[in-house]
Amino acid sequence: MYLNRYEEAMLRGDYGDAIARAMQVIVRVGDVLKADKLIEIETAHIAGASYLTIGDPGLEYLEDLAKSNVKFRVFTTVNPVGIDVLNDWGMDREFISRQWRIINALRSMGASLWLTCTPYEYLRIRPRTYHAWAESNAVAYINAVHDAWTEKLPGPFVVLSALVGRVPRYGLYTLNGRVPTHVVRINGGQVINNPLIAGLLGRKIAEEVGDGKPYLVARFNGNAVIKQLLASYATYSPHAFMVIDGLTPNYREYFSMIDKPEEIDIDINDIIRNTGVKGQDFDAVFLGCPHYGVDEIMTVINYVRGRGFKRAKKPIYIATTPFVINSLNQSIINMLRDSNIHLVLTTCPVVSPFLKSVGVNTVATESVKQMYYLPKMVGINYISCNGIECLDMAFNE
Ligand code: F3S
Repeated sequence: MYLNRYEEAMLRGDYGDAIARAMQVIVRVGDVLKADKLIEIETAHIAGASYLTIGDPGLEYLEDLAKSNVKFRVFTTVNPVGIDVLNDWGMDREFISRQWRIINALRSMGASLWLTCTPYEYLRIRPRTYHAWAESNAVAYINAVHDAWTEKLPGPFVVLSALVGRVPRYGLYTLNGRVPTHVVRINGGQVINNPLIAGLLGRKIAEEVGDGKPYLVARFNGNAVIKQLLASYATYSPHAFMVIDGLTPNYREYFSMIDKPEEIDIDINDIIRNTGVKGQDFDAVFLGCPHYGVDEIMTVINYVRGRGFKRAKKPIYIATTPFVINSLNQSIINMLRDSNIHLVLTTCPVVSPFLKSVGVNTVATESVKQMYYLPKMVGINYISCNGIECLDMAFNE
């Protein structure tokens, strides 16, 4: 694999042992993947920073790295961690303290501690720029919505990529690696405007396309719906890559490059028919996978206003970001809390014990990604609900 002089110097150890070791891994992986060269990335997004998932080995690895005084060479953000940095939700003190050690190690290496899985909502990401991102929903989002280029990378590999500011050029980092293989058309005509249906559609596309790359012909109403489509699709797809007709920048170019595609028709009405609430009992509603942005929180605020600021009978937990909290007046946050709606910051139920800490064993959720991970990762059961219906269930229970 070709290396320029700066990359050779990093590999030789001119910039310290930690950088040399990081380069050794990047180059080795690049050789295995038959990459022809390294490419410069603009941003990195680290996932796998929860103490629940990486435990003491991950904590010690990151602390050792931080002690070597090494710094990230590119703008680097971090996925949700195991704790809400503003509220302990009754979680174990030792867990919280070890999580803070991970956060502090990443901070000292220069990470921006957004602690969200939706960094794309706060960055101006330009088409055809290179990134090293690990969170699958975010990978799918910037590929499909911005035509920004990243593979779905493992979390530890992103840490090393951020240290040297490089990734090997292979797969989705090449135009040939991004050519769709399947044209997926949605029958039924209607614009998809429902988060649960979008999520189920994402799973269906991943199941139909398998190892291929879809060119999706469908119409969606709003960013919240596209987030659910891509989060679910990325959960089930090995690539977390699709082109969406009329939405992905350069979609015409991608379409023109497709050679003998497999054609798949999906009847959206089949999906809609299967979206009734499954099961009955639930302890709380969970929303915010991927993290809710301001628009999605506004929908909830308007709903509560429509309900005359009554209190929900079951608690509603919504995962969101520091940006959203900072943009809301405290009186709005208090009003939501009085309505039994709780904003949860910087974390996610599948990498945190917080739902169990507040006594929740079964949630109602619209997120197909949560449905996949909650039972496996934290032993929480789910029932599915459908957009506004999730709020209705909590208020009408
Ligand atoms: Fe984000 Fe967790 Fe969902 S990281 S995409 S809220 S599973």
